[in-house]
Amino acid sequence: MRIIIRENAEELSKIAAQQIIDGYTPGMRLGVATGSTPLGLYKALREAHAAGDFSMAGSSAWALDEYVGIPADHPERYFNVLHTELVKDGGVGLFEADLHTPDGGAEDPKVAAKEYDAAIAPGVDIQILGLGRNGHIGFNEPGGGLASRTHVDVLTASTREANARFFDNDMDRVPTFCVTQGLGTIMSAKKIVLLAFGTDKAEAVEQLIEGAVSQLWPATVLQHHVDVTVYIDEAAASRLELLDYYRTLEQL
Ligand code: F6R
Repeated sequence: MRIIIRENAEELSKIAAQQIIDGYTPGMRLGVATGSTPLGLYKALREAHAAGDFSMAGSSAWALDEYVGIPADHPERYFNVLHTELVKDGGVGLFEADLHTPDGGAEDPKVAAKEYDAAIAPGVDIQILGLGRNGHIGFNEPGGGLASRTHVDVLTASTREANARFFDNDMDRVPTFCVTQGLGTIMSAKKIVLLAFGTDKAEAVEQLIEGAVSQLWPATVLQHHVDVTVYIDEAAASRLELLDYYRTLEQL
């Protein structure tokens, strides 16, 4: 696990975007997260596209998750969020037809989950991840299996509370169910880029990097992946015991 620690999220988002640009190959499959954390990274990719330095034309993007039962035109439906970030007004050059999200509106979301998992196989080239305060990645909440594939899951009260800010601060409006890539699906990505900012994430970051691998902290499964880079700000890194060691390692 490579650990990159910087003062603030803006700087980290730019460095992470550069990693995506450097690792980009035409036709690649990019796994994309939603939530607040990757917004600076997407902005940096849009700026690179506008400057003519990067384009995802002919490549595809694959969402981590989607709410079940959210209206198709709801602004917080993850397809719509990612469309705004990556497709709209030129975005990162991605074509709408190449933006894939699990079908949260399917008659049978379990079938939709299986189909999505099959479509992603054998795994995306680079997966971008955020990190939940409770250690979730995608919507794999604590207590789910470490080897799970794309499935229907239940959002915990803590996650719904955290996401209420996207739903007029009304937790009752946050959907209860979702379709999410499983941890096994996420682990099938060739390369993983995880970002986490702020003190709210410090405990989850501590577990991710220094905790025991456990389904109680789902992100800890990433300790078994061969190519993970974690971008964290000073606040998110504040509970790490081996901080000096990680800073030195980064210089290698
Ligand atoms: C979103 C997702 C989640 C978020 C996590 C952090 O697609 O998969 O795991 O990355 O909940 O959310 P933010 O970035 O809003 O703190």
